[in-house]
Amino acid sequence: MSESVKFEVGGRSLDLPVMKGTLGPDVVDIRKLYGETDVFTYDPSFTSTASCESKITFIDGDNGVLLHRGYPIEQLAENSSFLEVCYLLLNGELPNAAEFSGFENTITRHTMLHDQFDRFFNGFRRDAHPMAIMTGAVGALSAFYHDSTNVEDPEQRMISSHRLIAKMPTIAARAFKYSQGQPFVHPRNDLSYAENFLRMCFAVPAEDYKPNPVLAKAMDKIFILHADHEQNASTSTVRMVGSSGANPFACIAAGIASLWGPKHGGANEEALNMLKAIGTVDNVPDFVQGVKDRRHMLMGFGHRVYKNYDPRAKIMQQTCHEVLAEMGHGDDPLLKVAMELEKIALNEDFFVERKLYPNVDFYSGITLRALGFPPEMFTVLFALARTVGWISQWQEMIQDPAQKIGRPRQLYTGAVKRDYTAIDGR
Ligand code: CMC
Repeated sequence: MSESVKFEVGGRSLDLPVMKGTLGPDVVDIRKLYGETDVFTYDPSFTSTASCESKITFIDGDNGVLLHRGYPIEQLAENSSFLEVCYLLLNGELPNAAEFSGFENTITRHTMLHDQFDRFFNGFRRDAHPMAIMTGAVGALSAFYHDSTNVEDPEQRMISSHRLIAKMPTIAARAFKYSQGQPFVHPRNDLSYAENFLRMCFAVPAEDYKPNPVLAKAMDKIFILHADHEQNASTSTVRMVGSSGANPFACIAAGIASLWGPKHGGANEEALNMLKAIGTVDNVPDFVQGVKDRRHMLMGFGHRVYKNYDPRAKIMQQTCHEVLAEMGHGDDPLLKVAMELEKIALNEDFFVERKLYPNVDFYSGITLRALGFPPEMFTVLFALARTVGWISQWQEMIQDPAQKIGRPRQLYTGAVKRDYTAIDGR
């Protein structure tokens, strides 16, 4: 017999069905609540609300588990490649050799941008934040690729998904080059996704750029770690914007805007700035005291869902060591500050009681800095990698018969109806 929850209010009662997933908590289906009882539920930051049904990503925050289409992030980071993970997120299954080769070929051959597109970059100030450029440039894709904006057409949806995955590195690298005052570097089809991106960022016309395999592998792994994370703020933004039927490029631009905030994707930039401000290991105890006194936050710590070590943070820490060793920065003072900060914080009651652990952003800043990126680029790299998650979730949302335009309700606490008074009577 299927389970239900009895709900009683104002003398009326209703049996609310309980829905069961394959993993994770059961969900009470409250869709009929308002129609039958005239009350809404109140959950302003969705701490207890499942906004959709999804088959893409599962997180068990208490046990530090992250699965994409069922596969643990540790196995994907170790054995897979970012493009393979893209295929998995988008299509539901790992590709066979022929499917992978077809997918890789499609992505590689969509990396170029319309020639006219480059004019957008010149409109920005050189000191513009690259996330500002990304938000504008990705939104502008909808003005260039009209042939893939019909959201009702599955083929057009897939073409726009491929275009976004393919063109994000080119746009991100251009945003970087523009801030450096260097000429844009065009993509090359003989390189892997990560190699191509690093080359578009770091090659200059004056000399050849040879991709470093250790750094390219690390970049690829960082992309895998950021590929999807179920219904976080930016993904929910993409789904919400998409629920109105908006085109995919506009939806992803909205996701980028949401990601930019310091509590979300902007935390990697803030975490590195924090480590720089702390400066040396001697200053760590004072900084931790400041967190406990609520003078500042410990950026790169804490998570809405993980109440345990973020599994991505463990892999990121390992990648950080690999990149620093390869670059000869093994004794980076900021790495020492980060490790001391982590050690102290994990043993302090303030953090233990609140279940605050390092998240993916704690070590990513040091790693990306060692790869040669300035802090303003960190969130851009996150957006590049998360694009596949956003677009896969958007595809799922469009195909879900239960989804309608997103329209939350409210608890109104403003003035009750009153009459307008003319200005001389106020
Ligand atoms: N430093 C100090 N105190 C913290 C921190 C932190 N980083 N995170 C949470 N707390 C405290 C918070 O003040 C609260 O204390 P109290 O109960 O005494 O008021 C308690 O821990 C619970 O925190 P919360 O704000 O209710 O938790 P939340 O689920 O609303 O917020 C979060 C999650 C990620 C926004 C928050 O932990 C945070 O702002 N962390 C720093 C920013 C960061 O690293 N963000 C990256 C998240 S992972 C990547 C991504 O999603 O993009």
